[in-house]
Amino acid sequence: MKITLIPGDGIGPEVTAAVVRILERTGLALEWERHEAGAVALERYGVTLPEPLLESIRRNKVALKGPVTTPVGTGFTSVNVGLRKALDLFANLRPVRSLPGVPARYEHVDLVIVRENTEDLYAGIEHEVVPGVVESLKITTAASCTRIARFAFDYARAHGRRRVTAVHKANIMKMGDGLFLDSVRKVAAEYPDIVSDDRIVDAMCMQLVLDPQKFDVLVLPNLFGDIVSDLCAGLVGGLGVVPGANLGSDAAVFEAVHGSAPDIAGRDLANPTALLLSAVLMLRHIGEHAAAERVMAALSAVLTDGQVRTRDLGGTAGTSAFADAICARLARSES
Ligand code: NAI
Repeated sequence: MKITLIPGDGIGPEVTAAVVRILERTGLALEWERHEAGAVALERYGVTLPEPLLESIRRNKVALKGPVTTPVGTGFTSVNVGLRKALDLFANLRPVRSLPGVPARYEHVDLVIVRENTEDLYAGIEHEVVPGVVESLKITTAASCTRIARFAFDYARAHGRRRVTAVHKANIMKMGDGLFLDSVRKVAAEYPDIVSDDRIVDAMCMQLVLDPQKFDVLVLPNLFGDIVSDLCAGLVGGLGVVPGANLGSDAAVFEAVHGSAPDIAGRDLANPTALLLSAVLMLRHIGEHAAAERVMAALSAVLTDGQVRTRDLGGTAGTSAFADAICARLARSES
């Protein structure tokens, strides 16, 4: 099976190398088509998102992606946002689960974040009205809100989830977030087997910090989804352990929630768990369930054992030593 691989930058090349090594250890016949994006691609090809990369994903329909840096304030627009728009990867799925052996604020958290991926303030449509006054447009369409709501309810039904909570700020943004909430409610009416409710985003943040176990599937507009994802990552041990998938009708790009972590890049310090869990989502997406289970079992064994842990989880092991430990477990499970 051919898979597009975007190593990205910062810690991206380190975590993708670790994950590719682990996946290859499962014995699956995966063929990687490597492509550069972001600053590296800009230097080499003059664009941040080269057409051959997009073509490769369109052809293979599946990609595994490391994080790509976006310059703050000035410079090129986000490659991550560009990729989601170019391939219409409208749903961002982020399962947030407590993992065995991972020190965290809470145990037994099992949440799924469904984030709209194409609109909202994240569309990045901004202009200077007059010097010193900038307008950023928050785009909301009924079509996109309905599509993401349907995705959330279908996901809930397919995965035995009981409740979908819409998160919004419709008390203030009565039109934009009002449309989002209205669209979710209309879709909810078609799923009488799933409980549906909603929360205002600020109250939601507080409730997640106080009692995260009481939530199930959350569906959010783009910007709130981004922020609440990081908050939820903090509940289960941090950005090093939360996976993600960008899903569209024709393609899927699997990537961790975290960014390129320039503060630890190139030092063999990054935790590859988040990208590995994203790769497990990818294996399930392509129907390789047995390999997904084996990788999960090896990861859980290494985390529970606790001897080999990366620094973010209180250990001293590097990215590659952690990957070695998982590969060793996979080898043991074969014999
Ligand atoms: P970040 O997620 O890169 O880092 C935040 C903090 O978490 C840092 O202290 C970092 O060391 C730590 N961290 C992140 N991933 C880790 C891992 N795997 N193991 C151990 N520690 C980890 O967020 P930040 O600093 O806001 O963004 C850095 C760059 O990444 C920016 O240019 C941003 O635009 C980009 N970014 C890219 C994303 C993507 O490619 N999908 C997603 C989020 C941010």
